[in-house]
Amino acid sequence: MRQASILYFCLGLLALFSGILVKAEDAYRYYTWTITHGTISPLGVPQKGILINGQFPGPTVDCVTNDNIIVNVINKLDEPFLITWNGIKQRKTTWQDGVQGTNCPIPPNSNWTYKFQTKDQIGTFNYFPSIGIHRVAGGFGGFNVQSRSVIAIPYPIPAEEFTLLIGDWYKADDKVLQQELDQGFPLPLPDALLINGLSQGATFTGEKGKTYKFRVSNVGIATAINFRIQGHTMTLVEVEGAHTIQEVYDSLDVHVGQSVTVLVTLNGSPKDYFIVASSRFTKPILNTTGILRYAGSNTPPTLPLPIGPTYQIHWSMKQARTIRLNLTANAARPNPQGSFHYGTIQVVRTVILANTAANISGKLRYAVNSISYVDPATPLKLADWFNIPGVFTLNSIKDAPTNAPAAFGTSVIGTTLHDFVEIVFQNTETTIQSWHLDGYSFYAVGYGSGVWTPDKRKKFYNLNDAVSRHTVQVYPKSWSAVLVSLDNKGMWNLRSAIWSRRYLGQQLYVRVWNNEHSIFTENDIPPNALFCGLAKHP
Ligand SMILES: *[C@@H]1O[C@H](CO)[C@@H](O)[C@H](O)[C@H]1NC(C)=O
Ligand SMILES: *[C@@H]1O[C@H](CO)[C@@H](O)[C@H](O)[C@H]1NC(C)=O
Ligand SMILES: *[C@@H]1O[C@H](CO)[C@@H](O)[C@H](O)[C@H]1NC(C)=O
Ligand SMILES: *[C@@H]1O[C@H](CO)[C@@H](O)[C@H](O)[C@H]1NC(C)=O
Repeated sequence: MRQASILYFCLGLLALFSGILVKAEDAYRYYTWTITHGTISPLGVPQKGILINGQFPGPTVDCVTNDNIIVNVINKLDEPFLITWNGIKQRKTTWQDGVQGTNCPIPPNSNWTYKFQTKDQIGTFNYFPSIGIHRVAGGFGGFNVQSRSVIAIPYPIPAEEFTLLIGDWYKADDKVLQQELDQGFPLPLPDALLINGLSQGATFTGEKGKTYKFRVSNVGIATAINFRIQGHTMTLVEVEGAHTIQEVYDSLDVHVGQSVTVLVTLNGSPKDYFIVASSRFTKPILNTTGILRYAGSNTPPTLPLPIGPTYQIHWSMKQARTIRLNLTANAARPNPQGSFHYGTIQVVRTVILANTAANISGKLRYAVNSISYVDPATPLKLADWFNIPGVFTLNSIKDAPTNAPAAFGTSVIGTTLHDFVEIVFQNTETTIQSWHLDGYSFYAVGYGSGVWTPDKRKKFYNLNDAVSRHTVQVYPKSWSAVLVSLDNKGMWNLRSAIWSRRYLGQQLYVRVWNNEHSIFTENDIPPNALFCGLAKHP
C-alpha cells in the first residue's frame, strides 16, 4: 500500500518533470513595446494616434503553436492602458487576457509584462487596446500563429504571406469620440476604411503563377466589410484558428472582430489589381483599395472596382453557412478537428442573450438581458481569487431576456468547468451585431431571422461541421446560436465587438469555475500581478 503510493508519487513527479521539460522546448519570444501618443494622418489630416514602438499599426507578432510570448508593455500614455489578445485563448491564464475584468490597468509611466503561451492554437488573430475606446486611435496589430513543422497543414505551403488589418476609421481623436459617447450620443458613421493604416495604396507584391496567403482581420470598431481582389478568386483555408472546407469565393464578408485566411494564386496577366474592402449595411458605402502587384509590373490597376454586396443580408447569411470545418484536417494537434463530435454532446444549459439600446438617466446605453454592464474598480478575477465580497454576484444576469427596464449592473454568468453550453444571441435591433468570447472558440451552429425558439435547432443547426471561431455576427432582427465546451477555467469577457456598444454596456463575463484549486486546471496568479480597487498585495 505504502509502496504503491510512493510509486504513484514518483510517477506524478515524473509527469510533472516531463511537463516542465516539454514546456522548456517551446520557444520563447520576447517583445518590448513602448506605447506613446504620436501624430498620424491616415486620412491626410494630422490626428493623435496610439503608437507601439513608434509604429501605426503596431508590430505583427509572428509565432508558432505553443510558443511562449513575453511582452513587456511600457505605458508612456498619460492614462491607464491594457492590450487584449483577440482570439488567443490564454489557456488556464485568464490572468493575461488584458481586459478590465481580469487585469488592473497599467498605470501611466510604468510597465507590465504579459506572459502567455499560444497553447494548441494556429491561425490568424490580432491584438488591440481594451480600455475605453483607445483602439479607435491605434495600438492594434496582427498576431499570426503558424503550425508546428511536424503538423501537416491541409494545403501546399504558400510562397509568402501577407497580413491585412482592415477597419473603419475616424478623423476625430479618441477623446472627442469618447466624449460623444459619455454625453449619451451614438458615434457617427466612420469617415473611411483603412488597410494597414492606409486609406489607399497598401501594396502586396507576388510572382505570377505562385500562391500567397492573405491573413485578413476586421480590426474596425463598427463596420462589417466585404473583401475582394480584382480578377482573382480566394480559397478560404482558415477562420479564427480552424481549418475550413476550402471553398472558393469572389468576395468574403468579414464582420467586426473576425479574421479569415485565404489563398490567392496569381494567375492573371502581369499587372496591378485592386484589392477592395467596402462597408456592409451602411449608408453611404465606404470603400478602400489596396494593390495586388505582379512583380515587375508597371501597369497600374484599372477601374471599375469589382462589385461587392452592400445591403443584402440574405446573401451574407447564406455565405456564413458555407463556412464549414474541415473535419479531417488537423488544427494545432495531430488529431483531426472532427474528432470532437460537438453535435453529439448533451447541452446542459441554454443562455439566450438579447441586446437592446436603452435610455438610462437620459443617456444612450446598451444592455444585455436588461443589464448594462459597468466595470467595477476591482477586476472580477482578482475579487474571485481573493474572495473579496461586494464586487460581483453570480445571479446578476438572467439566462433569458426579461421585460425589466434596463439598469446598470456587473453581469457575471456562473458556469461549471466542462459544462457544454448553448448561447443564443438574439438581436432585437435593426443594426448588425458582432459577439466575441475571450478564452474560447465556439461552434457557430446556426443563423436565422426573427426570434429564436427551440424548434430552430432542428431546422437550422449545423451539428456536423459548423466552423469553430471566437466572433459571430448576428444579423438585424435575427439570431445566431453557438455551442461551447467550457473547458478553460477563468473569468472571460463576452462582449460586443462593436466597440461603442461594449463601451456603453453591451458586455458581460462568463465565470468558468470548479472548486478544486489545481495548476492542472488554472495557473496561480502571476507574481507580477498588478493590484487595484479593493485588491491589495497579499
Ligand atoms: C518592467 O520592465 C523591466 C525592464 O525594463 C523589467 O525588469 C520588469 O520586470 C518590468 N516590470 C513588470 C511588472 O513587468
Ligand atoms: C464602393 O463599393 C460599393 C460596393 O461594391 C459600390 O456599390 C460603390 O459603387 C463603390 N464606390 C466606389 C466609389 O467605387
Ligand atoms: C480537408 O483537409 C484534408 C487534410 O486532412 C485535405 O486533404 C482536404 O483537401 C481538405 N478538404 C477540403 C474540402 O478542403
Ligand atoms: C432619454 O430619455 C430622456 C427623457 O427621460 C429624453 O429627454 C432623451 O432624449 C432620451 N435620450 C435618448 C438617447 O433616447
